[in-house]
Amino acid sequence: MKLCMIGTGYVGLVSGVCFSDLGNDVICVDKDINKINLLKKGKIPIYEPGLSELVIKNYKNKKLKFSSDLKTSVKNSDIIFICVGTPTKKSGSSADLSQIYNVAKKISLSINKFKIIITKSTVPVTTGDQIEKILSKKNSKNKFAVVSNPEFLREGEAIRDFTYPDRIVIGSNDKKSNRIMKNLYSPLISKGAQYIHSSRRAAELIKYASNAFLATKITFINEIANLCEKTGINVEDISIGMGLDKRIGSRFLRAGPAYGGSCFPKDTRAITSTGDEFKTNLSVIKSVIKSNQNRSNILLKRVHEILKNKVKNKKITFLGVTFKANTDDMRDSSSLIMIPSLAKKGALIKYFDPTGYKKDFEKIKNVSYENTIKKSLDGSDLVIIHTEWNDFKSLNFKKLVKGKKFIIYDMRNIYSPTKIKGQGFKYFSIGR
Ligand code: UDX
Repeated sequence: MKLCMIGTGYVGLVSGVCFSDLGNDVICVDKDINKINLLKKGKIPIYEPGLSELVIKNYKNKKLKFSSDLKTSVKNSDIIFICVGTPTKKSGSSADLSQIYNVAKKISLSINKFKIIITKSTVPVTTGDQIEKILSKKNSKNKFAVVSNPEFLREGEAIRDFTYPDRIVIGSNDKKSNRIMKNLYSPLISKGAQYIHSSRRAAELIKYASNAFLATKITFINEIANLCEKTGINVEDISIGMGLDKRIGSRFLRAGPAYGGSCFPKDTRAITSTGDEFKTNLSVIKSVIKSNQNRSNILLKRVHEILKNKVKNKKITFLGVTFKANTDDMRDSSSLIMIPSLAKKGALIKYFDPTGYKKDFEKIKNVSYENTIKKSLDGSDLVIIHTEWNDFKSLNFKKLVKGKKFIIYDMRNIYSPTKIKGQGFKYFSIGR
């Protein structure tokens, strides 16, 4: 099939490349000409394991193309995926849909035969209805169908999530587009992926509700971890004990820093805003947002306690600063709150991240990047394990630092408290 992905950000690029790998002819479009030129040279703007190899392979065999010409690309395709950003509006908490509607207007000028227009970007309920209205202004209704097909790709695991999805959700209000979409996804369905067809509005809401639920699960266990710390209980026991109940499930029950990333914070805000718009108070999600915002303060307070309230001139190392492992994404990472706050209080901060230096800390006094774990640990008073990169999972701290022992605050519960204490380090973790 001939596919066009509009927007070569995370969602568009990963989905486009994976669709081309399934044998489709895919053209990825972006208005950023620089990005397109780099992609043509095999240079990938994001860090995602396995992506670069797939781009090069499919670009070479001409299944994958890149272009900044939206009009021609749309004309030459049968299925158009809209994959542009839907960030939170500058004022308020609803999603900014200006990029979506701009693209829809441009598509409406290039419909030369029947096309399916799909939102893969996360869009609030009724966005598909609005796109349909825009397209109808220039085209008769039998020339297009608007479909919602949300993505559930995790950064760092995106290619696997695309290839082996738990479910494929297609929201369409007509049979023809549903048939074509099912056909497009048939290679994944035949490998066991569940295909779910719903109304377009339902598909839009499935995405937000899923992300809000996962964010709730994390926030729930984070609050339980707070209680565990006060009562001498190991939160890991609670996660296992709860997770074995099939109605609950064990995933997303890992206590840690505030959840971050490009999706959960933005999508929880947007769904509550949709709720308000339709006069429905989504109070559970609202309290999740509040609790998560407060999470970094709770962990910061703990850092102050660990350092006996003497943070000034203390050397603090952050191992990992991205919001999670296997990504270079800093969006809404809790390190963006914790590092500036500690630096402001006079701490001297060094950080190491496998994805390198971060511009985000450029202007903050007393924050510096070290390009090896060893250098980042050198002379440290407190080491904070912030992100669960594999690189940090089996460190021999005793060997890495000769002499002076630091305190370890393991925010991802990577290490066994008894083993680390056995090496002579003071050790703190989350909820245990
Ligand atoms: C998420 C959704 O999982 C994906 O389906 C959606 O389409 C996009 O948003 P992603 O943002 O890549 O994906 O990250 P995810 O792995 O879901 O983690 C989000 C945040 O939750 C991270 O900050 C992570 O550290 C945190 N998290 C996750 C926990 O703190 N505990 C957990 O048990 C799981």
